[in-house]
Amino acid sequence: MCESNMKRKRLYIAGLAGLGLIVLVSIYKSGSNRSSVSVIRDCFFCDFAHHRKGPPPVLEVETDEYVIFKDKYPAAKHHYLAIPKEHFDSLKALNRSHLGLVQRMEAGMMEFFRSKNIDPTKAVIGFHLPPFISVRHLHLHGIYPPSDMGIGNQISFMSSFWFKKSEDAIRELEGREL
Ligand SMILES: *[C@@H]1O[C@H](CO)[C@@H](O)[C@H](O)[C@H]1NC(C)=O
Ligand SMILES: [Zn+2]
Ligand SMILES: [Zn+2]
Repeated sequence: MCESNMKRKRLYIAGLAGLGLIVLVSIYKSGSNRSSVSVIRDCFFCDFAHHRKGPPPVLEVETDEYVIFKDKYPAAKHHYLAIPKEHFDSLKALNRSHLGLVQRMEAGMMEFFRSKNIDPTKAVIGFHLPPFISVRHLHLHGIYPPSDMGIGNQISFMSSFWFKKSEDAIRELEGREL
């Protein structure tokens, strides 16, 4: 096998091993939190959205319902998060009554990309699903260009049972109960 092939294969294996580790850690974390579900936890995304405590990230967009800011660990040149001001743990906490909110968050992210001369249809826009979530406050990722992402992030943000594109999330919410 030639050397560059070997290198690529090794990177691929390292990426998979890394993903496995992330999966194990998030399953472990979700298990250890289960007993405190009814307790009101500190949530730093709530703090960001309501301008409490510091230092918060710069809010690129703010509406009555949600804010958009740069991801602290960007996976590409442009990587933003849209989070609602109301606390929801994840997509799983939502039902059809939240369809409008998710549609407006998606539209807000797309509009923000357009304001930066980025075609939002070429961006990766979606949600991680529990237990594969880093922060337990609903957040919509917007990432561009996808080609910037390393193998680990490509896996983390590919349509799968751990990541749902916003259009798929909206379609699913349409089918949920009110
Ligand atoms: C849907 O969400 C609303 C608002 O949070 C809540 O009042 C309602 O009970 C939920 N419906 C179901 C079926 O869970
Ligand atoms: Zn929160
Ligand atoms: Zn996420």
